Amino acid sequence: MAEPESASVPHHVAIIMDGNGRWAKQRGLPRIEGHRRGVETVRRTIETARELGIEYLTLYAFSVENWRRPQDEVGALMGLLEYFLKRETSTLVKNQVRLRTIGRTDLLPDFVRQELERTIAATADFTEHTLVLALNYGSRTEVLDAAKSYAAAVAAGEIAADDDSWESFARHLYTKDLPDPDLVIRTSGETRVSNFLLMQAAYAEFVFLPIFWPDFSADHFKAAVAEFAKRERRFGRTGDQLRSPAATAAIPPLVAGR
Ligand code: FPP
Repeated sequence: MAEPESASVPHHVAIIMDGNGRWAKQRGLPRIEGHRRGVETVRRTIETARELGIEYLTLYAFSVENWRRPQDEVGALMGLLEYFLKRETSTLVKNQVRLRTIGRTDLLPDFVRQELERTIAATADFTEHTLVLALNYGSRTEVLDAAKSYAAAVAAGEIAADDDSWESFARHLYTKDLPDPDLVIRTSGETRVSNFLLMQAAYAEFVFLPIFWPDFSADHFKAAVAEFAKRERRFGRTGDQLRSPAATAAIPPLVAGR
């Protein structure tokens, strides 16, 4: 797998794409027009991630809570997903970007699932860049699904009942073969996490941008990555420990989750 060009480039960026509705409202347009423009931003963002050498890009495209929206908006979002997958698969293949999903995708409409399966199969062998679409995703649902799977594995004798390592449990999350996000970006000015990657973002840096998703440009993305590069990630240690190699050498390894 290609390393990002610099250590200050995050391996994995996850984005809460928010503000499509407000973008449209500001212009007197229907909400769906904001989502349509949001798809263009998705295309641009995938391209920028690739240019920046970001290996994993996760986009929160549809949450478990989004079913509560008016039926016509849910239908339009599903239609846009189908449209995106039909139109973008060839570009993903050309750019060698693998598609993955997280979430209860089995509950998506058949026409979306079929396109997803087609694109996932067409891009399955690529390793340098991965686009993860969070679809019918919610962290709490993910933890419930993981707990059921974990309990079944304990009952089957595959995991010791007294195994309390986070890594064992994390192997039952939707993200089992994905690294944790280093940087989470949310557009629209809201400063909430909204049930997104709550477990995986335990040590992520957050950047909240006061712009709506359709306006999120390559420059905004680069500025967020530059902001990430300025942050000191301590993972529970002190700043002095990080700056002193001798002190760092004396630190016991991180026992995740304790
Ligand atoms: C949040 O804006 C956005 C969504 C719930 C959907 C995001 C979907 C897309 C960008 C298009 C489809 C996705 C892909 C990957 C092709 P909002 O509607 O909550 O905005 P508001 O808070 O201003 O109402």
